[in-house]
Amino acid sequence: MGNITITNHPLIQHKLTLLRDKNTGSKEFRELVGEIAMLMCYEATRDLTLKEVEIETPVSVVRTKVISGKKLAFVPILRAGLGMVDGVLELVPSARVGHIGLYRDPQTLEPVEYYCKLPSDIEEREVIVLDPMLATGGSATDAITMIKKHHPKSIKFMGIIAAPEGLNKLSKTHPDVDIFCAALDEKLNDHGYIVPGLGDAGDRIFGTK
Ligand code: PRP
Ligand code: URA
Repeated sequence: MGNITITNHPLIQHKLTLLRDKNTGSKEFRELVGEIAMLMCYEATRDLTLKEVEIETPVSVVRTKVISGKKLAFVPILRAGLGMVDGVLELVPSARVGHIGLYRDPQTLEPVEYYCKLPSDIEEREVIVLDPMLATGGSATDAITMIKKHHPKSIKFMGIIAAPEGLNKLSKTHPDVDIFCAALDEKLNDHGYIVPGLGDAGDRIFGTK
């Protein structure tokens, strides 16, 4: 099974409380999703490899480290994953961005795929899939199955809130994928919403309800 990391840093927990609050409006909600994604990205990129280089400071020559040309691609799951893109690009501005479009059929709760556009050099890249909500896990699991067909070097998943059901499904179906979430909530309700969760992430980001 891949590693599961719950990134419970105090700054993330504080922002998550504001995010969950039903009185938080779309503008603040969007900002918070971006900020949490940026803080989580710090943890999700902890294993980036470094190489030594020699540079000159104003005082002397020094051997020091830079990231060793490892290429990243962020792949948000449309729509709600888009809310995390600006935050992670703040940390890794050179990363490429692919898109996967999926929505949950409200009756069956099954993910329906409608879009997939990935960087052309995806085979040379490490992919981090972005989606704030891991509920039944259907969307993330299917998105990663789609991405694997394009043979990236590795895949990680970065979400904000997970339900036990989704975490279980994703880690069992894709044991090679490391998972990063800011919170593991109690359960899903009869409509497939995470309890206590934060409601519909896409609607709250884009103000569509
Ligand atoms: C939400 C969310 C995830 C999915 C999670 O998207 O952003 O993609 O549900 O649920 P799952 O784990 O049960 O698959 P939704 O289908 O509501 O589409 P949207 O982002 O366009 O609102
Ligand atoms: N998708 C959401 O946006 N919220 C949930 O609680 C579950 C799925």
